[in-house]
Amino acid sequence: MTTQGTPSAVRYDKDADGIVTLTLDDPESSANTMNDRYAAAMGAAVDRLEADVAAGDVAGVVIASAKKTFFVGGNLSQLQALTPQDASTFFAGIEGIKDQLRRLETIGRPVVAALNGAALGGGMEIALAAHRRIAVDEDTARFGFPEVTLGLLPGGGGVTRSVQMLGLQLALMDWLLQGQQRTAAAAKDKGLIDELVATRDELIPAARAWILAYRDDAEAASQPWDRPGHRIPGGTPSTPKLAQLLPAFPANLRKQLKGASYPAPRAVLSAAVEGAQVDFDTASRIESRYLTKLATGPVSTNMIQAFFFDLQSISSGSLRPQGIAPRTVSRVGVLGAGMMGAGIAYACATRGIGVVLKDVSLAGAEKGKEHTAELLARKVAQGRMTAQARQEILDRIVPTERTTDLEGVDAVIEAVFEDAELKAKVFADVQEVVGTETLLCSNTSTLPISSLAQHVDRPEDFVGLHFFSPVDKMRLVEIIKGARTSEESLARAIDLVQQIGKLPIVVDDRRGFYTSRVFGTLITEGVALVEEGVDPATVERAATMAGFPAPPLAMLDEVSLTLTQHIRAEAEKDAAARGTTLSAPPGSAVIDRMVEEFGRKGRAAGAGFYDYPADGPKRFWPGVREHFTTQRTEVPLQDIQDRYLFTMALETARCFEEGVLDSSAAANIGSIFGIGYPPITGGTAQFMTSYPGGLGGFVARARELAAAYGDRFAPSPWLEARVASAEGL
Ligand code: NAI
Repeated sequence: MTTQGTPSAVRYDKDADGIVTLTLDDPESSANTMNDRYAAAMGAAVDRLEADVAAGDVAGVVIASAKKTFFVGGNLSQLQALTPQDASTFFAGIEGIKDQLRRLETIGRPVVAALNGAALGGGMEIALAAHRRIAVDEDTARFGFPEVTLGLLPGGGGVTRSVQMLGLQLALMDWLLQGQQRTAAAAKDKGLIDELVATRDELIPAARAWILAYRDDAEAASQPWDRPGHRIPGGTPSTPKLAQLLPAFPANLRKQLKGASYPAPRAVLSAAVEGAQVDFDTASRIESRYLTKLATGPVSTNMIQAFFFDLQSISSGSLRPQGIAPRTVSRVGVLGAGMMGAGIAYACATRGIGVVLKDVSLAGAEKGKEHTAELLARKVAQGRMTAQARQEILDRIVPTERTTDLEGVDAVIEAVFEDAELKAKVFADVQEVVGTETLLCSNTSTLPISSLAQHVDRPEDFVGLHFFSPVDKMRLVEIIKGARTSEESLARAIDLVQQIGKLPIVVDDRRGFYTSRVFGTLITEGVALVEEGVDPATVERAATMAGFPAPPLAMLDEVSLTLTQHIRAEAEKDAAARGTTLSAPPGSAVIDRMVEEFGRKGRAAGAGFYDYPADGPKRFWPGVREHFTTQRTEVPLQDIQDRYLFTMALETARCFEEGVLDSSAAANIGSIFGIGYPPITGGTAQFMTSYPGGLGGFVARARELAAAYGDRFAPSPWLEARVASAEGL
């Protein structure tokens, strides 16, 4: 079927057995998405199918795909651009797409979805409108509804059909609320897929065989929810047993989100529960309404930017210098087997890289290797890894105390104590042993890369690789380009970070780089509020309600109060060397008293803003209220939250201004994946540009905060100029 010579996004073929194959094949893209081409083509295909069925010569329908994946979901560029003004058009559009799928599932002939590859979001929704789902049993393809992770919900029938099929509890927990993506085998275990075939070649024959076996079976050609007497598994909200459980759902969600207002999971919950109490078509319309609200609102715009576009840009190496041949690392030397070194060894070994793990003693190095053994043992116990695979990974890590064992490694990653002299000595020793081609990386969190590089013969091969703790969980790596780091080394560092499955952002070598510097402003703001007399519980709660995964005082305890004192002293020394003086950041006096007067240095020392009892969860140290917040100042909640969000965003703007950063994608991904900037904002850069009124609105609000709370919120002339020239960041 073609329109004016353009191939259709849904091909229609009927064979001699009367089996119609609808092949999804977007002519203008390498993957199928739910765009206008799909809607028009699917509409035409269903019209034709209805006519053929009426003529009596259709045995059944196979929905197949001509792409590598089956169908990857909504059209995110279109979805991202939606504003509240688009609500009624969008609602009508989504209802139109759903009407086609409804007509397909009630056509009276068996319909099979032949899942040759990933079916996500809209793709899974098309598959759910079939009467049977057959997938190829491959490890690489994923199935599920990731919408919630982009601030959306599966509004193409995904909520309604999964609830009807699996019941409220399983649909919500296994698929909808967290946007889980699973392999075909796991999706079959969890009831979303009916049958697996071993290879792609067996897929269409299996679909056809099922149709031919059930061509005259009216029940097979209907959905469970259209059969008389259908009940949702587990019951509806009025079923007493479920009614008892139901109040816990929003409560758990609230707990999980720590009170933050993530609209998508709430909307999923509402659509599912409200939909379970009404007929299918009404449920479907309720779902469309909730999707419309989410899709036309700001949070989905932000989350699509960060979690789709920016993530894709960073993972595809957009920051990598061009024209340099990619390199892979087969052996790496990790220096220092402490917390970070052990984590880096794990990250490399699990990705197939051989690791020479060196510490001052063999016992120390072995202890570092033990970290990998423990993490993998957990996976084996959970059935997520075989004992053999675990052993293969462990065999890749060779612990040692001898520098000479580093001979021939492709890269060195140094993670010894944070001490410039020690690092200089370690690199001086290592460069004698490793080849002249070895990339030299330091995981320093604070020391300038350019000065560390002065101690090696090949400063152009020296680069900062700033990992985050715990390394096995944190996906970000901040790559720091020293004054003399070559483009080639930068490319190699990016290749290495990608090889171990992490996200590389590239920043310039300034104090605090990007992430630590911006993170520092959040902590400063938390302590500043304590200094102003705001109750510590309010200080913390305001942050979690704004969407920060961890609040500032708790984070300060984690990084230790003494570290912030040390960083402040270094910054003062720097300023003195430049002949200027630095005024201490707000809250410094509180930190100094905490450490010096009360001996409360942070979590590692067992005492900070919190107490850490051995037999229970941490709790606020009563002394904070006794000594610091006695006057109980009230600052409006919105202001506290804005102070956190703005201080970090403004510091990010300064990073752009100083050339530390030159990519919004890096700013967004770095802030969300490295330092917990709220995902609903889309990251620090997205927060500024998508603020109501755009960057101009952001700057206006920053001026208000500056007038009320201090000059640190004053937008710089550079930022003001960006607004005036409408250039953006
Ligand atoms: P750590 O104290 O846990 O480990 C340091 C290890 O280096 C110890 O096992 C020590 O025995 C070993 N070491 C000392 N001298 C050595 C030498 N000459 N040769 C080989 N090994 C030697 O410290 P951690 O936390 O792992 O930090 C290491 C580096 O990573 C520091 O530069 C730190 O600033 C940086 N970093 C730390 C982060 C954190 O969250 N802890 C985050 C990012 C970077």
